[in-house]
Amino acid sequence: MMGLTESKRSDMSKHVHPDHDQNAFGLMKGKRGIILGVANAHSLAWGIAEHLSRNGAEIAFTYPSEIMKKRVEPLAQSMGSDLIFPCDVSQEGDVERTFQTLKQHWPTIDFVVHSISFSDKNELRGDFLDLSRENFLNTMLVSCYSFIDVAKHAKPMMAPGASIVTLSYYGAEKVIPHYNAMALAKSALETSVQYAAEDLGKKGIRVNTLSCGPIKTLAASGIGDFHYILQWNQNNAPLRRSITLDDVGKSALYILSDLSSGVTGETLHVDAGYHVVGMKAKDAKDIVLAPKDGADAVARA
Ligand SMILES: NC(=O)c1ccc[n+]([C@@H]2O[C@H](COP(=O)([O-])OP(=O)(O)OC[C@H]3O[C@@H](n4cnc5c(N)ncnc54)[C@H](O)[C@@H]3O)[C@@H](O)[C@H]2O)c1
Repeated sequence: MMGLTESKRSDMSKHVHPDHDQNAFGLMKGKRGIILGVANAHSLAWGIAEHLSRNGAEIAFTYPSEIMKKRVEPLAQSMGSDLIFPCDVSQEGDVERTFQTLKQHWPTIDFVVHSISFSDKNELRGDFLDLSRENFLNTMLVSCYSFIDVAKHAKPMMAPGASIVTLSYYGAEKVIPHYNAMALAKSALETSVQYAAEDLGKKGIRVNTLSCGPIKTLAASGIGDFHYILQWNQNNAPLRRSITLDDVGKSALYILSDLSSGVTGETLHVDAGYHVVGMKAKDAKDIVLAPKDGADAVARA
C-alpha cells in the first residue's frame, strides 16, 4: 500500500469536488491515453496524470518491472484505472506489444505521455569524457530511442487532434554539471520530437517536449550534487522558486488538450524561467557544496 500513502503525500492529491476544483475544466473529457513513466507519487508523470484525470481523461499506465508494478498499480487504481501493462522499453518488442494490448481495450487513443529516462548513476557525476560506451548506448536507448518507438507504435491508434508529449531538461541545451550522457540523450530527444512532429503532423498529430526545471524524484536523486542544482535554480530563476508537479501537470494539460491545437515541434520550458538567465541573480545567496562529504549537501556562504 506504499503507493497510496505516497499518493496522499502528493501536493496534488487532496480530494476536491470537481465543481470546486479550479484546475478541473473538463478539457480532457472523452479523451483516452497512455502514460509511460509513473514510478511513484513524486514522478513528473504522476503530476501529469492527476491533472489529466481531474479534467476527465481516462488513462492507461505501464511499469517496467514487477517491483515497479507494486508501486504503479495502487496509484492507477486510485484514479479508477485498471489498464496497467508491463513495458520495459529496453526490451525489443515490449513497446509494440504494449500498444497491441492497449488496442484490445481502446481502438483509438488521444494522447501519449513519455516520461522515461535512465543512465548509470555512477556516470551521472564526474567528468563527461569518462562516459562509457555501454552507458552511452543504454542511456540513448532508454531515454531517447524509446520515445521514437512509442511514437511509432502509437501512430496507428491516433486520430487528427491527438497529442504526444515527452519530458526533457535544460542540460540538453547548456552544460549542467554531471548531466553527462543524459544531456546527449535529451538533445537527441528534443530533435526527435521535431522530426516526429513533421512525420505525424501530416496526420494532424502534435508532438511536443516539456523542458522541466529540477524536481526531486527517484530519477533526479541519481544526479550528482542534485540539491546544489535545485537550490541554484531556486535562487536564480526569474520566479525565484523551483517548479512543482502541479506546474508540470498544468503545462501538460495545455499541451495535450485542444488549448494548444496550433502548437507542435515545440520545447516548452516549465522551469520558472531559468533558461533565460545568463548569470547569477544579484539577490541570490551564495551557495557552495559542503566541503565535508561533498556530493549533495549545500551550505550557504
Ligand atoms: N526530476 C527532474 O528534475 C526532471 C527535470 C526535467 C526532466 N525530467 C525528466 O522527466 C522524466 C521522468 O522522470 P522523473 O524525474 O519523474 O523520475 P521518475 O524516476 O519518477 O521517472 C522515471 C521513469 O522512467 C522509468 N524507466 C526507467 N527505465 C525504464 C525502462 N527500461 N522501461 C520503462 N520505464 C523505465 C521508471 O520506471 C520511472 O517511472 C524523465 O525523462 C526525466 O529525465 C526530470
